[in-house]
Amino acid sequence: MELKDKTMVITGGASGIGFATCEALMKEGLEGIAVVDRSEAVNDACHRLNSEAGGALYHPYIGNVTCEDFRRSVFADLKKRFGVVHMCVPAAGITRDRLAVKINRDTGASDLYSVEEFRSVIEINLLAPIYWAMESIATMAEDRHRRGVGRWDPKELVQGAIVLIGSVSSAGNKGQISYATTKAGLDGAQATLAKEAIFHGVRCCIIHPGYTDTPMVQALGDEMINEMILPNTLLRRLLRPDEVAEGIVFMLRSSAASGSLWLDAGWHPAT
Ligand SMILES: NC(=O)c1ccc[n+]([C@@H]2O[C@H](COP(=O)([O-])OP(=O)(O)OC[C@H]3O[C@@H](n4cnc5c(N)ncnc54)[C@H](O)[C@@H]3O)[C@@H](O)[C@H]2O)c1
Repeated sequence: MELKDKTMVITGGASGIGFATCEALMKEGLEGIAVVDRSEAVNDACHRLNSEAGGALYHPYIGNVTCEDFRRSVFADLKKRFGVVHMCVPAAGITRDRLAVKINRDTGASDLYSVEEFRSVIEINLLAPIYWAMESIATMAEDRHRRGVGRWDPKELVQGAIVLIGSVSSAGNKGQISYATTKAGLDGAQATLAKEAIFHGVRCCIIHPGYTDTPMVQALGDEMINEMILPNTLLRRLLRPDEVAEGIVFMLRSSAASGSLWLDAGWHPAT
């Protein structure tokens, strides 16, 4: 798929994999990239990226991806600015790790993972990416309706693409009951959106990265990384965010990509 003159949204773009994806797209000739994050660091990130790009390619939006009003306002603004949003990489995500069931050694009482924490991980990691993706597809669907064109025809070439960010944890990972559940849920969303969105000329894929050297993983600390992660990784190192971004850009660009890419660094955790 030709990326030139396309427009897109990247959430979680102030940091880690989202930011690296913004950087990796700099030379692709896109018309505009909306960079969304709840952190004000997104302003600085766009400023730096635009200085390097030599133009106003990156547009910062500060807000919580789970907030519907915020999401709608971003898309209203983007529709005014660009008409349609061809691509979406909803990368904002969080971890709230803990064993699913713990036993208090003294009392023998069980302590289950908090429902509130679980709901917030679902809101951010599962519902939000699906809705940001659907909102992007909707701009393409509305545009086709306005132009009076119906079902997408292969002769038109593929018009847009979504890349959801899964994780190796989607296959199950100790201590990650909420995170793993949300990332596995994205597989179902991807498979469904892939089948529906092609009607509007949009592909939908998912990438499952292994442990990547970003603030999310750095927060685990060196001991955890060295003892629990690297020994279970064939590559024996964390992935770099730019390596994951390269996989994401490949999936955006390749019209043949419509499924999942396991960019997993050889992750093979012991049970
Ligand atoms: N780092 C890894 O090892 C790894 C591996 C597989 C998948 N992932 C996934 O990649 C994505 C990016 O992770 P990362 O490692 O770059 O993390 P990161 O913490 O470096 O970046 C995440 C960004 O998302 C933003 N964000 C979080 N919640 C938000 C919200 N509610 N609204 C708006 N912005 C919000 C944060 O402010 C931050 O800038 C996540 O979906 C994560 O689950 C990461």
